[in-house]
Amino acid sequence: MKFKHELPVKIYYGSKCLSANDKELVKLGRKAFIMTGPKSGKLSGALEDVLEALRLNNIEFSIFDRVENNPSFKNVEEAGKIAADFGADFVIGIGGGSPLDASKAAAVLAVNRIKPVELYKNMYKNNPLPIAAIPTTAGTGSEVTPYSILTRHDLKTKMSFGSRQTFPQIAFVDPGYLRSVPVKILANTAVDALSHSIEGYLSKRSTPVSDLYAVESIRQFGKSYKNLLKLEINEQTRNSLMYSSMLGGMVITHTGTTIVHSLGYYLTYFYDVPHGMANGVFLEEFLSYNYTASEQKINNILSLCELKSIREFGKAIEMLVGNFKLTCEDARKCAESVPGNKVSSNPENIDVSGLYGIVKKSCC
Ligand SMILES: [Fe+2]
Repeated sequence: MKFKHELPVKIYYGSKCLSANDKELVKLGRKAFIMTGPKSGKLSGALEDVLEALRLNNIEFSIFDRVENNPSFKNVEEAGKIAADFGADFVIGIGGGSPLDASKAAAVLAVNRIKPVELYKNMYKNNPLPIAAIPTTAGTGSEVTPYSILTRHDLKTKMSFGSRQTFPQIAFVDPGYLRSVPVKILANTAVDALSHSIEGYLSKRSTPVSDLYAVESIRQFGKSYKNLLKLEINEQTRNSLMYSSMLGGMVITHTGTTIVHSLGYYLTYFYDVPHGMANGVFLEEFLSYNYTASEQKINNILSLCELKSIREFGKAIEMLVGNFKLTCEDARKCAESVPGNKVSSNPENIDVSGLYGIVKKSCC
């Protein structure tokens, strides 16, 4: 047995974990640059909690609340410049994947004179500003990963960068922030988290420890998705969703995502399909294609979700996020958009025609 395991993020999990541990923010500096979207920080109550914690500890702050959905180079470049002009000591990201990912980019750009495209070199002369991450959705797991996914209009897709330097230093994970999230978004993000855990569990890069996270994450999804379908969201459901998402982030920190996410980026870039749904539409065929190579693990996924077959699994995902149709010509382009490193981590050998088969069965 051989593996590397590293997770340099201090995590506080649970209701009101930020206010109970607000002194942690003092350790990051005296000037905080807050990054959030126009709505999620306010609606969830997380922004209010952060402002209260900063005021209590006499930490100066500046708020950037214009993080875009699927942030662009221009968006993070602007945030980085404002953070630098403010003289920020650290960055606080509040929100779903977009604000958390954008905060990692801005933390690098604030202290390095580089263009956003150079973020993808994953080596920075000056260490990025420390990051505190506060998720208000349960899907991305970005609070525990080094990854930042930005929209690359130059390549017509979304692409992630990330290195040991871009892990958040601290994460405050409070399931209570999910109270304001509509059920449709909860379902979408839950499928994103599930996709992280399934992709990582089946990846050739999986490790015995990442498998522990993946199994528990999938189990938590199994405990909560029926409530999402019945629109019965209670405290226990919110806890399962947030915990599942955080564990899914821990999985992909070690394994990366695989072909499902790459195929999904195509749907999001060209058709604005929400990220969770964009992954969800491919999951059934992804499992079918890889069944022979990963029979035991796939049977375990089904049993953790209390489902009898891959077809039943596909139906459950479709009920949660719906389906999406592509033309055959577009299906080919989608299959061709998957980069080589994602192909190599697939459990079963796969080439463009195999990918095309998955896309066709999923979307045509
Ligand atoms: Fe994702």
